[in-house]
Amino acid sequence: MACGFRRAIASQLSRVLNLPPENLITSISAVPISQKEEVADFQLSVDSLLEKDNDHSRPDIQVQAKRLAEKLRCDTVVSEISTGQRTVNFKINRELLTKTVLQQVIEDGSKYGLKSELFSGLPQKKIVVEFSSPNVAKKFHVGHLRSTIIGNFIANLKEALGHQVIRINYLGDWGMQFGLLGTGFQLFGYEEKLQSNPLQHLFEVYVQVNKEAADDKSVAKAAQEFFQRLELGDVQALSLWQKFRDLSIEEYIRVYKRLGVYFDEYSGESFYREKSQEVLKLLESKGLLLKTIKGTAVVDLSGNGDPSSICTVMRSDGTSLYATRDLAAAIDRMDKYNFDTMIYVTDKGQKKHFQQVFQMLKIMGYDWAERCQHVPFGVVQGMKTRRGDVTFLEDVLNEIQLRMLQNMASIKTTKELKNPQETAERVGLAALIIQDFKGLLLTDYKFSWDRVFQSRGDTGVFLQYTHARLHSLEETFGCGYLNDFNTACLQEPQSVSILQHLLRFDEVLYKSSQDFQPRHIVSYLLTLSHLAAVAHKTLQIKDSPPEVAGARLHLFKAVRSVLANGMKLLGITPMEFRSCCPDWSAMVRCWLTATSISQFQAILLPQPPE
Ligand code: ARG
Repeated sequence: MACGFRRAIASQLSRVLNLPPENLITSISAVPISQKEEVADFQLSVDSLLEKDNDHSRPDIQVQAKRLAEKLRCDTVVSEISTGQRTVNFKINRELLTKTVLQQVIEDGSKYGLKSELFSGLPQKKIVVEFSSPNVAKKFHVGHLRSTIIGNFIANLKEALGHQVIRINYLGDWGMQFGLLGTGFQLFGYEEKLQSNPLQHLFEVYVQVNKEAADDKSVAKAAQEFFQRLELGDVQALSLWQKFRDLSIEEYIRVYKRLGVYFDEYSGESFYREKSQEVLKLLESKGLLLKTIKGTAVVDLSGNGDPSSICTVMRSDGTSLYATRDLAAAIDRMDKYNFDTMIYVTDKGQKKHFQQVFQMLKIMGYDWAERCQHVPFGVVQGMKTRRGDVTFLEDVLNEIQLRMLQNMASIKTTKELKNPQETAERVGLAALIIQDFKGLLLTDYKFSWDRVFQSRGDTGVFLQYTHARLHSLEETFGCGYLNDFNTACLQEPQSVSILQHLLRFDEVLYKSSQDFQPRHIVSYLLTLSHLAAVAHKTLQIKDSPPEVAGARLHLFKAVRSVLANGMKLLGITPMEFRSCCPDWSAMVRCWLTATSISQFQAILLPQPPE
C-alpha cells in the first residue's frame, strides 16, 4: 500500500543510489497534511538514508538532497520533485492518486493499510497476549480496566497484521483471599445472592470477613486453615472454590461482552499450584534456590546478594508465591503454544516483577525468555462512580451509560431513541477509550469524567458522530450515485487533503505496531474526522451533477471505511445510522455544537507533530 507509490518512488531511487529498493522503503513517508509544505505527497528523509548507508562523514545534507533530486526524473507516477528541509519531496500525479487511493480503500476493505509494503515480509507469528487479569473477589480497579482495553488493542492490532493471537485472562484466583472467602461464605454467605450476583456478593463477603478476621483471631485462623485445605486439595473446599470461580467467570464473560472484549483462555494462578512445586524443584536442582533463615526460599538474581535483586519464590510453609506461579505459567504456555512472543499488559508497578520473572526464566536455561515482554502503563487516579470508588467493571460501564444518557437528554429532542441504553453505552465507551488512548500509555493521569465527555473537540463521541453521519450519507444517497463516478472531479483542496491523509494510514499502523502506542491511530482518526467535517460542509452531494456527487460519495465512503477500521482496532464499535435512532446523529450534533466549522478548520493550520 500507500498504494504502491512508495514502492514506485523507491525503485526509481534505487537506480540512482544503487541500493536495493527494500532498503529505501522505510525512508520514504507520506507527508502529514498538517505539516505540509506546498503539496508534496511523499518525502524521502535524507538523514535516515545516510544512517542506513553507514556513511558517518555526513556531508551537507541539504546539498545531498538537492543533488539527489536533480538526478531523479518525473514519470507517470511522480509529477513533481522538489527538496524540503533535509528531504526530497515527491508529488504524485493527481488523477492517479485519487483513483488508486479510492480503489485500494474500497478493494482492501478491512485490510486497507495492512497489506502495505511496510509490512511485507513480516513473518507470521504466534503471539500470546495476557491482559485484564482481575482478582476474583477483590476490586476490579482502573488498572484492570486499562489492562483490558490496552491488551485488547494490542491483540486486535497483532491479529489484523496476520499473526495468530491467543488472548489469555490470567485471573487472580488463588491465595489467602480464598481462605478468607471460604470461611466468610460459611459464616455469612447466601447461596441465592451468590447465584444471582456473584461478583458483588463475593466482594461483600470478602470485605466483611476481612473486618471480622482483624478483630477475631479465630476467624483469621479458620481462614488460614481453609486455605491450607485448598492447598492440600481437600475436595469439599475445592468444590466451593470452584463454584466461586465458575460463577465469577460467567459474570466476567457477560461484562466483557458489553465492552466488546473476549478471551481464548480463562487461566489463573490456581492452575499453577502444583506446577509451581515442580518449578521449585527445578530451581533447586540447578542450584539456584537459596533457603533463608526464615525458612523461605529465594533466587539471587545478581549472584552477589544484592538485596534489590532477590526474589522470594517460596513461603516458609512450602507454598508458592505470585512470582513462582508466573514462572510455572510461562513454562506451561511455552509447552502449550510454542509462542514466538508473549506480551503481559499490566500497570508499571509490576515492572520489576516481570523483569525478575524473565530473568529467572533465563538463568533457568529457557532461551525463549527473550520472547517475553511486559507492556507497562501508567497509573490513573481518581476514577469514581456514583457508587464511590470503582469496584466492578460493570460500575464503570453503567456510569458511562448514565452520563451519556444524561448528555443526550440535555438536548431537546422530540423523537424518542429506539435503544437509548445501547447507543449511550457504545458512544460513551468510545469516549472513554479515546481519552485513555490519547496520551502515552506510560503516563499517569488524573481521571475526570468531564474530560471523557467534553463536548468540545477531540473525543470518542466526535469519532462516533462522524462515523454515523458518514454512514447516513451513504444510506441517503448510496444507491443513486455510486455507479456514476469520475475521479477527475475530486480536485478541491478538501478532497486532496483527505486523499493524502488516507495515504498515511499504513504508516500510522506501522508506528503503533512498533511501539504499541494507540495514540498514533487516535490522532490519525481525529484528523480524518476533522477533514471529513470540512469536506462534508463544502462538498455538496445533493444538487451536484451525478459524476461529481458520485465521486464525492466515494470519497466519503472511503473515509468511513478507514475510520471504522481504525476504531475497531482501538476496540470501539462504530455506530451506524440504522442501529440507532435516526435522530441520534442530529442530537449529538447539537451536543457537539462547539465542534463547529471553525474548529474543524483549525486542522488546516499547522499542528504539533504526533
Ligand atoms: N492479577 C494481577 C493483579 O491484579 C495481575 C496479573 C498480571 N499477570 C501476571 N502474569 N502476573 O495485580
